[in-house]
Amino acid sequence: MYDDSSSRIVVGLKGWIDGAAPGARLPSTRTLVAEYGASPVTVQKALRTLTEQGLVETRTGVGTFVRAARVNRPNDYGWQTAALGALPSQPPRSVALRDAPADTIALHSGYPDRELLPERLVRAAFARAARSDAVIGRPPAAGLPELQSWFAGELAAATPSTIVAPTAGDVIVLPGSQSGLTAAFRALAGPGRPLLIESPTYWGAILAAAQAGVHLVPIPTGLDGPDPDEVDRAFDRTGARAFYAQPRFANPTGTSWAPRVVDGVLDILRERGAFLIEDDWAHDLGIDADPAPLAARDDAGHIVYVRSLTKSVSPAVRVAAIIARGPARDRVLADVEAHTMYVSGVLQTVARDVITQPAWRTHLRGVRHQLAGRRDLLMDALRAHVPGAHLHAVPAGGLNIWVRLPDGTDLPRLVRECENAGVLVAGGDGWFPAEPTAPYLRLNFAGPNPGAFPDGVRILGRTLETLAGAR
Ligand SMILES: Cc1ncc(COP(=O)(O)O)c(C=O)c1O
Repeated sequence: MYDDSSSRIVVGLKGWIDGAAPGARLPSTRTLVAEYGASPVTVQKALRTLTEQGLVETRTGVGTFVRAARVNRPNDYGWQTAALGALPSQPPRSVALRDAPADTIALHSGYPDRELLPERLVRAAFARAARSDAVIGRPPAAGLPELQSWFAGELAAATPSTIVAPTAGDVIVLPGSQSGLTAAFRALAGPGRPLLIESPTYWGAILAAAQAGVHLVPIPTGLDGPDPDEVDRAFDRTGARAFYAQPRFANPTGTSWAPRVVDGVLDILRERGAFLIEDDWAHDLGIDADPAPLAARDDAGHIVYVRSLTKSVSPAVRVAAIIARGPARDRVLADVEAHTMYVSGVLQTVARDVITQPAWRTHLRGVRHQLAGRRDLLMDALRAHVPGAHLHAVPAGGLNIWVRLPDGTDLPRLVRECENAGVLVAGGDGWFPAEPTAPYLRLNFAGPNPGAFPDGVRILGRTLETLAGAR
């Protein structure tokens, strides 16, 4: 009551001050007491607040006045420098998260265009969820049992009959797989401990590793994936016990591991008693291929499988899961509980609704065709208009093409000048956990307005030529 009326007076007087000349005298305390029906103590408290905010000054025995020099003082947060200490070294924020103004050709973003999402299914699922108890209840920390079952069932369907399939109890539902990566890095490696990682790799994994304080050990990855001998040597040399990788449709290279790499890495994990954190971010985004996740071949708990629905159901729903077995699962869950506690039951209900509709499968088949058309359009445009570019691979899935540019290309300048010309592209440097080995671009074919891709690539080609001419 007391505080409420004091804030009411503050708000009222602020309006008065806005219309008053600097130096004007405020109504007396007695007038304010009468006007606001408040006690003199409450009025004094309001005046103190206005003084602290630099809006008025009080001259004892004379009255309260609108401050003559009502300068907009710049905020001074300098004290925070001492309180926070030196900036922790952390990768810069990725361009992949940048919003694109409407008139640009966006080849930079990692997120699918609206036409690639099951919008009708998502809207209908939200309408149904709104009428359900999901809007009120608190789901269990590891997730809604029926959604856990769905994730376990999906992996079980890819699991050969000789291997014990995962069950719902192995699943932890997450608010997006990014938080799952951080949780797995913390739980399975930990601060100061080594973690093997492909290079190049997803920038968000590099960021998550920095947050978790793990020490990254980059392993070069190529068209077939990493060389298993190299992986083995890195485990041996560093004493690492975990390897983060994207064996299917990797972001950024678009490649999938060859069967001999899959076999080799599985053997190494068993021999060395190590974990693979398998990031299956593009599970639903296969185009010409649909290789089984490595996790389908493991029942001894070596693979911690991370599977996201963000880019197939909706970035607004953003539900994912980790499937892990044994004590590793409990450790990851403990970490998830400490950081996110549980995922909104509404989002889990909506995600499950969408992926269990018969129309979901039809939708995915349509997306496959659309992605194929978009990928081929972008590849053809690159071949025609950027002859100096080397296309790493024709991605059999995922959303992006990894393009190597001529050595000596000034990458930051190229990105800047393309943007000035209305085309957003992502320089590849952010995808390297160590020094970039060459200038690369990651171009996404899932962005808006694919009809403009050829124009965007023409601009890219011209800009590259101009920069080469200036060298
Ligand atoms: C390879 C990879 N892993 C994980 C993620 C995180 O996705 P989310 O947290 O939305 O599930 C992304 C997002 O771009 C990604 O590209």
